[in-house]
Amino acid sequence: MILVTTATGQVGSAVVRALSQRGQACRALVRNADQAFDLPHVETVQGDFRDGASLDAAMAGVSRVYLACRPLPIQPELEGHVITAASRNGVGHVVKLSAYDAHDANPSDFRRWNGIAERRLMESGLAWTMLRPTAFHQSVDAAAIAARGELLSPQGDAASPFIDARDIADVAAAALTGEGHKGRIYDLTGPEALTQPQVAALVVEVFGRPVTCRAVSDDEALDGLIAGGMDVGFARSMIAHYQAYRARPVSLISGWVSILAGRKPRSLRAYIEECRTAGR
Ligand SMILES: NC(=O)c1ccc[n+]([C@@H]2O[C@H](COP(=O)([O-])OP(=O)(O)OC[C@H]3O[C@@H](n4cnc5c(N)ncnc54)[C@H](OP(=O)(O)O)[C@@H]3O)[C@@H](O)[C@H]2O)c1
Repeated sequence: MILVTTATGQVGSAVVRALSQRGQACRALVRNADQAFDLPHVETVQGDFRDGASLDAAMAGVSRVYLACRPLPIQPELEGHVITAASRNGVGHVVKLSAYDAHDANPSDFRRWNGIAERRLMESGLAWTMLRPTAFHQSVDAAAIAARGELLSPQGDAASPFIDARDIADVAAAALTGEGHKGRIYDLTGPEALTQPQVAALVVEVFGRPVTCRAVSDDEALDGLIAGGMDVGFARSMIAHYQAYRARPVSLISGWVSILAGRKPRSLRAYIEECRTAGR
């Protein structure tokens, strides 16, 4: 039995679907019972990372765990609860969703929180696999960019090899069901690195609407994120993340999706086309 945490999350929900399609029995951990899955081979269990008893119940008979968490300052602590519960319950292998360049001194909060959680897992004595993706396709709100006609970019010339959350999930499913993945760190990217002006150009081509990409300062970007309703702390973390991209642009294109999922990674253009077709 495989336990999938964050089963309502962008990647976790796709991991549940990927395991179901493989005919692999899995248990989806959700916080709200209304979010139960109705898929073959999938059972749903209610639990919370802060509730050790719920984790113990969820891990009964579980040999492998998919671990992720919402990006939060307490992410390492929350993931630590799952790691401790996995050790307590005799889990054999944890596959963790992390982030590109995760380490415990990274100036990007998102990468650092994952780096600290990675270290906890590495030091737990459990067998582990780390999945380190770059930015998700799903973080590009193409319809909103097309509607606004403007993409504000504090990222300078730095490119990002966007990856689709479903491709990460297929790699996770391969690592959770196959052998030879213990102690491996997989850097995961899509097929090409794109700058923000190139992202804007894709939105123009697919939506057929004019979009300009305007370079903005960190302060203007921060104000824009907060004005758009983002939590102030999260907005500051976003700015630190853009700064990390500027300081160390990600030029690497990895082949792991092709190797582990057995097919080419989806392109950002294909994702934006899906968004247009789906009206989102
Ligand atoms: N977005 C990107 O571009 C990107 C790029 C690279 C790496 N990452 C990493 O990906 C990870 C996030 O994965 P994701 O995007 O798949 O997740 P997500 O869509 O942000 O969803 C967060 C999940 O965490 C669950 N959760 C939050 N608090 C919990 C708790 N106390 N107990 C149990 N579950 C809890 C949420 O459950 P509810 O539905 O109940 O709230 C939800 O399922 C982060 O580590 C992030 O750094 C993201």
